[in-house]
Amino acid sequence: MSERTLVLIKPDAVQRGLAGEILSRYERKGLRIVALEQRNAEGSVLDEHYAEHVEKPWYHELRDFMQTGPLLAFVLEGDSAVSIVRALNGATDGRKAEPGTIRGDFSISNQANLVHGSDSLESAEREIGIWFPEA
Ligand code: CDP
Ligand code: MG
Repeated sequence: MSERTLVLIKPDAVQRGLAGEILSRYERKGLRIVALEQRNAEGSVLDEHYAEHVEKPWYHELRDFMQTGPLLAFVLEGDSAVSIVRALNGATDGRKAEPGTIRGDFSISNQANLVHGSDSLESAEREIGIWFPEA
């Protein structure tokens, strides 16, 4: 079933010049780019996006990290897009993520882990509404 999911290429990936490599992995898998924008994330947008985490002790650091530079926000579309993106991204902690995944290949951090992908269809709909309210 065709789905849409919200992806962020985080500031660490953009700064390291990995945006093209990461984007091409999603494209080569067969997902279609629906909307794509480079953004400097506002704090208020991040608080909405990470609503489930704002009370966590590490949230302030995450919020600062997400504002260290521009990020790429985009929507990917395709069969099972939500779970496919999560699988391509790998486990949250880059030190534990499987080789062959984006985080497993390029990150050794629990925070600077290069990418975000919606964790469910419901989250995808909510997050697309935050980053692309016109979509
Ligand atoms: O991104 P994902 O859904 O895999 O993980 P999460 O548990 O929903 O956490 C969201 C983001 O918070 C992670 O991708 C990390 O960038 C960050 N994080 C952090 O800074 N410190 C932690 N202890 C856990 C997560
Ligand atoms: Mg999450």
